[in-house]
Amino acid sequence: MHILKLNLKKHSYSIIIGNNIINLLGRYILKLNIGRDAYVITNASIKKKHGRLLNNGLKQSGFNVRFKLIPDTEKSKSIEMASSIIKDMTLYDRGRRVLIIAFGGGVIGDLAGFIASIYKRGIPYTQVPTTLLAQVDSGIGGKTAVDLTQGKNLLGAFYQPRLVLSDVGLLKTLNIRQIQSGLAEVIKYGVIKDAEFFTYLEKNYQDILDLKMPALEFIVMRCSGIKAKIVQQDEREEKGIRTILNFGHTIGHAIEAAGRYKRYNHGQAIALGMLIACDISKKLGLTNNTTVERIENLIKKVGLPTKIEKISGPDIIKAHYRDKKFMGLKNKFVLIKGIGKAVIRKNIPLKIIKESIKIYLI
Ligand SMILES: NC(=O)c1ccc[n+]([C@@H]2O[C@H](COP(=O)([O-])OP(=O)(O)OC[C@H]3O[C@@H](n4cnc5c(N)ncnc54)[C@H](O)[C@@H]3O)[C@@H](O)[C@H]2O)c1
Ligand SMILES: [Zn+2]
Repeated sequence: MHILKLNLKKHSYSIIIGNNIINLLGRYILKLNIGRDAYVITNASIKKKHGRLLNNGLKQSGFNVRFKLIPDTEKSKSIEMASSIIKDMTLYDRGRRVLIIAFGGGVIGDLAGFIASIYKRGIPYTQVPTTLLAQVDSGIGGKTAVDLTQGKNLLGAFYQPRLVLSDVGLLKTLNIRQIQSGLAEVIKYGVIKDAEFFTYLEKNYQDILDLKMPALEFIVMRCSGIKAKIVQQDEREEKGIRTILNFGHTIGHAIEAAGRYKRYNHGQAIALGMLIACDISKKLGLTNNTTVERIENLIKKVGLPTKIEKISGPDIIKAHYRDKKFMGLKNKFVLIKGIGKAVIRKNIPLKIIKESIKIYLI
């Protein structure tokens, strides 16, 4: 088991990572002195697979536990769902001191964090991420959100959890597509920040796909460490440090949107976005063929796409202009100089972006 600390002065918290550690959750929450009335937001499928372990762990430490089940879809990340959960929570909250536990992937984590940030002007919550993507990325860093019809994640706040507990044993029930989706973010960490880790992934990707320990535990620990370090230097993405986590996301989000969130899942779209960002880096003379080939090879080996199918170039560009991160008429890209070395560049000529997208279209 490993305990990392995310230092944000009075909003600091621990990230606990290990295999089969969910039974320790109650004990760690008790130390925080944030009450014993747990309101667990999850969905039926996660509850069925892992709910008993969570429940037992909490009950053994004297917690009252209420499970709130929500539909298993990105559509649950809505203001209507938040409002309906809050109404239910007020019934549970009579004479209690409620804390929220987000028990699920990024959808549940973002929604539960959002609710925690606004209910009674903020109540404590803990993240218990159950997907690889949530353990290495969305569960850490306090970005909470719901979607609007006008766009994803448009409504939200920075609101840090009081604890993150990542039990990598829970990942064993994920399907391969979900593992691959998380792996796109894992590869991203290597590319932007950690060349040694990238080499580790090149050598051990099969163990990860096979959900073997200690490989799985190691990657969650390494990525959580990178994310924690970046967040503590630039919590609100104001200093251009947290921005590098958007590597592959500028065009990746556009691909996701152009495919109406059906054609590609987040990780697949981000893998394609990373390849396009690599190609732009090459065209601008920032990096070389060998580097780009290593990244492309790893993406291919883990089974993520390296070609964009059934989406047109103009649709991707259109979606790119609608992205909320697009500031005025200036674009901003995270590019690479080499593996482990990310740089930010603004105002990339549209011609170059279009050419780089075209290379990956079939
Ligand atoms: N807040 C952030 O910083 C941040 C960062 C990246 C992504 N996100 C958000 O995260 C969301 C995507 O998260 P996700 O990829 O985890 O998707 P998700 O939450 O939809 O989970 C994917 C699927 O896995 C299932 N699942 C969860 N845990 C499981 C387990 N242990 N075993 C079997 N199945 C399990 C879920 O029920 C779901 O069907 C998006 O809404 C995205 O916007 C947020
Ligand atoms: Zn992402």
